[in-house]
Amino acid sequence: MLASLRMTGAIALAYRLFYDGILSRLPEPTAVALGQATLKALPLDRLSIFRLDEPRLATTLGGVPLPNPLVLAAMYYDARILRRAMGLGFGAVTAKSITVGPRPGHPRPNLVRVRTAAGPGLVNCNGFQNPGLEAFRATLAELPHRVPLIVSIAGESVDDYVTLVKALAPHADLVEFNISSPNTRLVYEWSTRPAQLRDLLRVVAEASPKPLIVKLSPDFADVNEREIIPAAIDAGVRVVNYGNTRRVDEPRLSQKAGGLSGPELFPATLANVRRTRERFPGTLEIIATGGVDSPAKAIALLDAGARAVGYFTGFITRGPILARRILERLARR
Ligand SMILES: Cc1cc2nc3c(=O)[nH]c(=O)nc-3n(C[C@H](O)[C@H](O)[C@H](O)COP(=O)(O)O)c2cc1C
Repeated sequence: MLASLRMTGAIALAYRLFYDGILSRLPEPTAVALGQATLKALPLDRLSIFRLDEPRLATTLGGVPLPNPLVLAAMYYDARILRRAMGLGFGAVTAKSITVGPRPGHPRPNLVRVRTAAGPGLVNCNGFQNPGLEAFRATLAELPHRVPLIVSIAGESVDDYVTLVKALAPHADLVEFNISSPNTRLVYEWSTRPAQLRDLLRVVAEASPKPLIVKLSPDFADVNEREIIPAAIDAGVRVVNYGNTRRVDEPRLSQKAGGLSGPELFPATLANVRRTRERFPGTLEIIATGGVDSPAKAIALLDAGARAVGYFTGFITRGPILARRILERLARR
């Protein structure tokens, strides 16, 4: 046990040196291309050091069994990357939000790094760059579910969401309903129309053969807790993901604004989970996402009442060993 802790500690340190010394100094598009090419090329998912199989860590989300409570948050739609991620310690993997038609996304620059006092983060205005429903469905059909797959959907209308949920739910274990990405008007505005959102949630929940997750925006804490979560519960939704990136101005981006991710989000994520747990003490299950880049942060969120913990930016800044490091700490408790 001690030897493996030393080994994962050494890998974590080596990755930090690689991130600080190389990845974070390359222009962002080069760093993204290098990171994704490496992830596709190296069969890291075959190495047991990146996982921890410990039956005591098993949990469920919306009734679906997960081997542990770590979730890779939505960002990747490439089936090769999703397949690798399923062997990198996560208890579930989320695919990037899919829209009915393909979308090229916003022009570059659409992702920039930020170095905050809390540590390295990102701001993106990706704009839902994705291959669209039909192309994505074809790749999904070939993806084995080594751990549960969460498919994320994003739409502009009730019809969009119903079409997406009907087409994609059969290939997913859970469906995440994105109403919170801040960098297009496409979904973000749903939080400003909670009455319409209530109808939408009811219709989509009825159409979905798989458990739904509603992914909330940290920019709308009041509306979330006063209107959106109660509406989700009334529609039969048992899981919320709190949450997405926070909208910030960023003059370096093509849209001059984007979604902030990374450790600066963490204090708000923790507060949101604590408040939500207190206000909805019943059966609501919370995935806490936003700013997790260390075992201590993941544990703090679980202790605050989250059922699972999601992260994306920590996967980039702390590397694929982060999941194993968190699982080791959880297993020792
Ligand atoms: C480049 C990028 C793309 C993302 N794409 C999506 C997306 O398609 N759908 C979604 O719900 N969230 C998306 N997110 C948000 C993440 O899933 C996550 O909620 C957010 O980054 C906060 O977690 P983190 O601080 O651990 O990164 C994206 C984040 C980044 C940085």
